[in-house]
Amino acid sequence: MNILVLGSGGREHTFAWKIAQSHRCKNLFVAPGNSGTATIATNLNISVTDFEAIKNAVIKNAIDLVVVGPEDPLVQGIHDYFLQDEDLKKVSVIGPQKAAAELEGSKEFAKEFMKRHNIPTAAYQSFTKENLEEGYKFLETLSSPFVLKADGLAAGKGVLIIHDIDEAKAELKHMLVDAKFGNASAKVVIEEFLDGIELSCFVLTDGKDYKILPTAKDYKRIGEGDTGLNTGGMGAVSPVPFASNEFLDKIEHQIVKPTVEGLKKDELPYVGFIFIGLIKVGNNPKVIEYNVRMGDPETEVVLPRLKTDLVEVFKAMSNQTLSEIELQIDERAATTIVLVSGGYPEGYEKGMEIFGLDEVKASIVFHAGAQSQDGKIVTSGGRVMAITSYGKDYEEAIKKSYQSINVLYFDKMYYRKDIGFDL
Ligand code: AMP
Ligand code: GLY
Repeated sequence: MNILVLGSGGREHTFAWKIAQSHRCKNLFVAPGNSGTATIATNLNISVTDFEAIKNAVIKNAIDLVVVGPEDPLVQGIHDYFLQDEDLKKVSVIGPQKAAAELEGSKEFAKEFMKRHNIPTAAYQSFTKENLEEGYKFLETLSSPFVLKADGLAAGKGVLIIHDIDEAKAELKHMLVDAKFGNASAKVVIEEFLDGIELSCFVLTDGKDYKILPTAKDYKRIGEGDTGLNTGGMGAVSPVPFASNEFLDKIEHQIVKPTVEGLKKDELPYVGFIFIGLIKVGNNPKVIEYNVRMGDPETEVVLPRLKTDLVEVFKAMSNQTLSEIELQIDERAATTIVLVSGGYPEGYEKGMEIFGLDEVKASIVFHAGAQSQDGKIVTSGGRVMAITSYGKDYEEAIKKSYQSINVLYFDKMYYRKDIGFDL
């Protein structure tokens, strides 16, 4: 099979790493890819939302399967584009169709879906600039902190958690009236604040059945002790030690099953990954958000624990025979630590040479914002690489990742030294 992975982050390097291990994969391409994917696949210099260029590459390279990494192409309807095209409709696409991708594309859509299917989540109401005053009144009925969410995609920045009510009102106005997040905040969901510890559950579905992948927990804040600005993720661990079997059972029965059933009932076509962001409130799971793709850096700890051939799994998803697949999971824990450019998630410099890559022996280095340039590997983004290790438990795995990081260096390199601190 010829396979194309769309994206350029650590997630996509991990997909490519796993796919390249399959004897079913003949030629592997990544668009646009990075310096890591370049070592195991052919990088194509194509943007993930340039559907026409993707079409040409798919035809030219006789691609049989496309794995969509990030949400943007899914929310923009890449799967539908393939189905509507005579030349592309036989190509398998891993990722939901546009109508289903709204689970990530619109917070309000996701909340209505959960309400309709009795899936536990925070109480909410949504507002537009036409009913701003009602928004203020709703805020007054809640207690601090206040959670404001831009309805649309806002590159992970659209959620504000605010302690002061006047500030919350001002931000609501800023989002609705002044378009703080552009069109994404033309509608705002205001939610009850949920107090608890977060984890993520990853589900594969062929639209009929589902399989649950190992749980993972990521560390979103830039600073140690979960302080400072939100990032795409500074590290992750799998499995999540506090997710007991009893708790996992609740996740499956109260959340995963009704989600997959709900997709069917609502006729939302879904072949792909469902990433369910959860919060453990007391002893019960509640949904914070749905994403219609894998998480990054969670992929860097979830896929290394999957022993089953991923291409076989993708084939079964496309053929709607997922129920016949048995997922084999590595008993070991996996952890990843993300190295970022100093200044991230705000401004940072690019083009710094990365040293020491060949010396890492006990970990897997997944490249993210890194590119090859004149025979060197240089930084090209905020999140530069993810250092994944296995261990008998997460402590041992984390220790290995930190040891590997000791031999890595680039100018202004930063990483959190406390991943797993709260477990
Ligand atoms: P999201 O972009 O929806 O993942 O939200 C970003 C982060 O905001 C989440 O990872 C949570 O830490 C936090 N968050 C979102 N919704 C809530 C909520 N209702 N209660 C508490 N924290 C929340
Ligand atoms: N790590 C969070 C995300 O991928 O959205």
